[in-house]
Amino acid sequence: DTRNFFTDCIMTWDRVKNSRAMPWKGEKDPYRIWLSEIILQQTRVEQGWPYYERFIAAYPTVTHLAAATDEEVFRLWQGLGYYARCKNMLAAARTIAGTHKGRFPQTYEGIAALKGVGAYTAAAIASFAFNLPHAVLDGNVYRVLARYFGIDTPTDTTAGKKLFTQLAGEVLHLRQPGIYNQAIMDFGAVVCKPQQPLCQGCPLAARCQAFQQGLTDLVPVKSKK
Ligand code: ADE
Repeated sequence: DTRNFFTDCIMTWDRVKNSRAMPWKGEKDPYRIWLSEIILQQTRVEQGWPYYERFIAAYPTVTHLAAATDEEVFRLWQGLGYYARCKNMLAAARTIAGTHKGRFPQTYEGIAALKGVGAYTAAAIASFAFNLPHAVLDGNVYRVLARYFGIDTPTDTTAGKKLFTQLAGEVLHLRQPGIYNQAIMDFGAVVCKPQQPLCQGCPLAARCQAFQQGLTDLVPVKSKK
């Protein structure tokens, strides 16, 4: 059906066409994945990349990060802004080092309980590091799903969040959730871009509702608020 087609297309595109390279891709260490996702929460990939490299070099494990002083970590964070993010990151690192004895939590609930870790970040870590079947839902995923399935419910509403969360879980690849999650985000960044998406040659185009109806510029919909 149209959902299996979607999932298969994303997986095949990733295997055959995806050449997007980033230092945290394919990473299995939950600490490194967590660090990358915290840095990328309000930061572009290109901007976050060198910060990620510097943090890994300075603090190779969560225990190293937990032992650093606030001042030292703030200095390394300089330029990323949103210092609450940095403070939460340090609090989480110290919780893992203390309460969890340096072992990163290995369940979705355990991961989601960390300071600064929301539903998106918990799903990313759980799927990338532990292959747990949790679908990520970020701006890229909203856009790809909204266009392909022709959904005009605003993404920034309670009803929209519920609908897209449900749908994201239904098209998740259950055996390779980590690969699938990274693939759909890459697909959104590279092919199904916000502006001028590459619909010519898109493997989903034949069944993409937005493309078929000439509505890619109008989907996804955001409420004005
Ligand atoms: N933005 C947040 N997490 C990301 C990831 N894993 N890959 C690409 N962009 C991202």
